[in-house]
Amino acid sequence: MSAPAVPTVDPVALRRALGTFTTGVTVVTARDPDGREAGVTANSFSSVSLDPPLVLWSLNRRSASLPVFAASSHFAVHILAYDQEALSNRFARPATDKFASLDVKRGAGGAPLLDKVSALFQCRLAYQYDGGDHVILVGEIEDFLATGRPPLVFHGGAYALAARKDAVPPPHDIPLAPDFLGYLIGRCHYQFYGRLQPRLAAMGLSMEDHFIVSALGVAGPLAPADLAAAISYTGIDLSPDRLSAMAESKVLDRDCNGRIGLSPRGRQMFIAAMAAAKDVEQDVLADFAPDEAHLLTQMLSRLVARTDPGLPDLWTQG
Ligand SMILES: Cc1cc2nc3c(=O)[nH]c(=O)nc-3n(C[C@H](O)[C@H](O)[C@H](O)COP(=O)(O)O)c2cc1C
Repeated sequence: MSAPAVPTVDPVALRRALGTFTTGVTVVTARDPDGREAGVTANSFSSVSLDPPLVLWSLNRRSASLPVFAASSHFAVHILAYDQEALSNRFARPATDKFASLDVKRGAGGAPLLDKVSALFQCRLAYQYDGGDHVILVGEIEDFLATGRPPLVFHGGAYALAARKDAVPPPHDIPLAPDFLGYLIGRCHYQFYGRLQPRLAAMGLSMEDHFIVSALGVAGPLAPADLAAAISYTGIDLSPDRLSAMAESKVLDRDCNGRIGLSPRGRQMFIAAMAAAKDVEQDVLADFAPDEAHLLTQMLSRLVARTDPGLPDLWTQG
């Protein structure tokens, strides 16, 4: 009897389908008895057993690092933190000097240990299995640590951030549909500035003055037309009367080229207003994990770019 035909698999479709399984990102390192070091980015990591404590990951047979892992008594698995994308990329490319300029410590079996990760598992290489075009490496955990740093996520072939689902229940008094973005953004804006406004008022800054001071604080002195463009998204009218009033209260200066800048007092106000805004920010983000806050700012930055009708990009200029 002939063997059943092996179904042909479209590798691109298979890879895409497998990519729907969301994982963390690890860098696995080792050092063999000849002192050769290896480090590979891997998301095939999985826990296997608690008693005995076993983990596994699989390494492509074509990997230049395979001889080092196969000959090493130990390997170290680093679960990368949300801000370690660059480290992941560094170990996801063939290179002879992957550890160059990295400050590594030595772990069990001499394996290089990386810093600021979410978790670290130091393992003795217990078993190696055939896994098709990969080798499955099973390690017995000898030591581990979890730092509490939020993890980096890999989903659909791209890096992602983990966000808890409904960690904080949405307020029940939202009268409109809770997915009405305009309402939610508007409400956030007013509630955020509702908290900031009294602190600005105590410094003698109106909300309008605050936006002008912030634009100049970030961008430096600007020609009046550029300042008007920079704050045009606010709808604030940059009338000569407003500018004169701010100059009279010694917030603004004009330089010899007619550009408007902050006076020394204005700069002090800018710094104090920024500190107050950071306080409010810290307060309103108190329920957010660091990676959630990072995700939120990334998403909002994208929305700002999408809704910007052509503002000069002040915030990325020096
Ligand atoms: C997020 C991510 C996960 C990866 N997971 C694995 C994996 O589990 N096993 C593997 O062999 N390669 C994996 N790779 C690819 C290797 O990191 C890459 O081929 C690396 O260059 C291998 O090391 P080498 O150049 O020393 O052979 C992954 C790459 C990325 C970006």
